Amino acid sequence: MEVVILPGSKQIASLAADAVEALLRRKPGAVLGLATGSTPLPIYSELALRHERDRLDFSQVRAFALDEYVGLPADHPESYRQVIAREFTARVNISPANVHVPDGAAADIPAACQRFEDAIRDAGGVDLQLLGVGTDGHIGFNEPGSSLASRTRIKTLIEQTRRDNSRFFGNLAEVPHHVLTQGLGTILDARHVILVATGAQKAQAVRDLAEGPVSAICAASVLQLHPHATVLVDEAAASSL
Ligand code: GLP
Repeated sequence: MEVVILPGSKQIASLAADAVEALLRRKPGAVLGLATGSTPLPIYSELALRHERDRLDFSQVRAFALDEYVGLPADHPESYRQVIAREFTARVNISPANVHVPDGAAADIPAACQRFEDAIRDAGGVDLQLLGVGTDGHIGFNEPGSSLASRTRIKTLIEQTRRDNSRFFGNLAEVPHHVLTQGLGTILDARHVILVATGAQKAQAVRDLAEGPVSAICAASVLQLHPHATVLVDEAAASSL
């Protein structure tokens, strides 16, 4: 695992966008893994800018979201299908048909999870996975205690994560209790993983994931086992290293 400490989110966005751009110039039909949350947003803005300004082409890209809430209608503004489209894929020329999000509204959840895993496999696997991290060390929605070998499945959010994410909803009661998420094993299959974290509220999670033991208590620590994991943090998020 390589940890890179940068002055702020602008530099993080620029470096992460460089990695995406280099991949797309080498492999125009690359498979991207996309994260929600607020930390990756400057990366998406930077990529949208490069699309506009430098004609960075996403027409052959396939994209897979990490996770989705269960029980929100697909057109709910906070469903991750909507968030990923609004914040990124609709701002570049990725075909909507090439954007895959776990189906949190499916009647048969295990079948929907299997279909999602199959779609990643059929696309040839994820080339570059972007990740944020929760204050409890979750990646995707793999909360503490997630199996290090897990695949896409349903999970229950802990109260802290629901509180953290309530800022996107009207109030805490509106935040779903259940989610579908790529498993830690699914994430580990990506060929390159870039995790981004900013702000002092992520300092403990960054320390646990980079310097703590590999443990299901801090799901992101599993990235220590990945052969090509890059962690981009600002000085505040690095302050406990
Ligand atoms: C959600 C997402 C995670 C994300 C986390 C942190 O829980 N499922 O993928 O990493 O939020 O979000 P933020 O970057 O807003 O702190």
